[in-house]
Amino acid sequence: MNERFVGLISGTSADGIDAALVTFDPDGRLAEAPLTLTLPYPTALRRSLIQCMRRDAALPLDRLGQLDQQVGLAFSAATLTLLEEAKLSPSAIHAIGSHGQTLFHAPDAGLPHTLQIGDPNQIAAGTGIPVVADFRRADMVAGGQGAPLAPGLHAALWRCSGITRAVINLGGIANVTTLPGDPGQAVTAYDSGPANCLLDLWHSRHRGGPVDTDGEWARTGKPVASLLSAMLADSYFSRPAPKSTGREYFDGQWLDSHLGAHLSPLPPEDVQATLLALTIETVAQAIETTAAKEAYVCGGGAHNSALLQGLRMRMPGVSIAATDTLGLPADDVEAVAFAWLAMRHTRQQAGNLPSVTGARYAAILGGRYLPPISASDPG
Ligand SMILES: Nc1ncnc2c1ncn2[C@@H]1O[C@H](COP(=O)(O)OP(=O)(O)O)[C@@H](O)[C@H]1O
Ligand SMILES: [Mg+2]
Repeated sequence: MNERFVGLISGTSADGIDAALVTFDPDGRLAEAPLTLTLPYPTALRRSLIQCMRRDAALPLDRLGQLDQQVGLAFSAATLTLLEEAKLSPSAIHAIGSHGQTLFHAPDAGLPHTLQIGDPNQIAAGTGIPVVADFRRADMVAGGQGAPLAPGLHAALWRCSGITRAVINLGGIANVTTLPGDPGQAVTAYDSGPANCLLDLWHSRHRGGPVDTDGEWARTGKPVASLLSAMLADSYFSRPAPKSTGREYFDGQWLDSHLGAHLSPLPPEDVQATLLALTIETVAQAIETTAAKEAYVCGGGAHNSALLQGLRMRMPGVSIAATDTLGLPADDVEAVAFAWLAMRHTRQQAGNLPSVTGARYAAILGGRYLPPISASDPG
């Protein structure tokens, strides 16, 4: 029987909640095109979240508790809006998969940890639908990075015998999945480095709003070779996979330390062009080590035409298109991935790929949070 799930995520950009209504068939394939929406966070909430993600943020515990509830309420409201648009009642949904909002991700700490907020109890109570949440920690306990988790969906939907494909997710952070054409080879994926997080940060500082729409501003600058090579010398880029990162590492402090080391002040548009070049170079290096001849782009950065043009110029031998051409719009992939992970959980199937995260075993990811009895069982 087909089952409907809702996937919810706000990524490292903290730009808003992506929600997807997805119907899976018994084999775990998409039975129809997902219905999706993005609800921007209220400006004040976004600002608070971004402040809390700073590595030097001193976040009082009561503030953390409040944000956890605020994000839970916002995720619940996003689900209700999605259901209204779909004209479906909560009883038509098998479960919600909620990633929540990452505030901190430290997979390489002595005792690895990761923190996603957005109380799933709030979502279950607000919608009347069971919620699966806390997807990353079981993988970390198994010795994995807890990330990336979307490659399971990429493999399920798009792995193709005989053709090695790459999927490039350009969120706040960029990650690259390789789907080998040889069925005997394992899927690999890792965070290649920053994508939009530093572009957004630098644009906010100099131009007000967070988004350098279509990379227009970056196009007016010229990459600074010495700054680019200093950034590329960061040990994160040369470290072997498995690896994952976040905006607690590629943050204002990271950028300022590189700019501070530069002898003369640089025109801000040249810095933006250099940050764009950094994403292009690190993504290209991640793809170059594979045999991929086809790459599919998703995430908000897929709308940045300067970024796409740069990737195409840097990798002339690789055909690059948005995941839309595979049937799933670039903006929808991550939310669909969390619906997929909820589906895997309810069917008692593993969600992580040990070849990706480095976990010692494949694990059923997430915990289940139930709505009030009266909501789930009207009888
Ligand atoms: N038209 C556009 N031009 C440039 N960048 C864009 C555009 N649309 C979206 N983005 C970028 O995409 C980001 C959001 O992408 P998203 O995939 O939601 O990231 P995350 O998963 O980190 O939330 C925005 O912060 C912005 O930087
Ligand atoms: Mg987002």
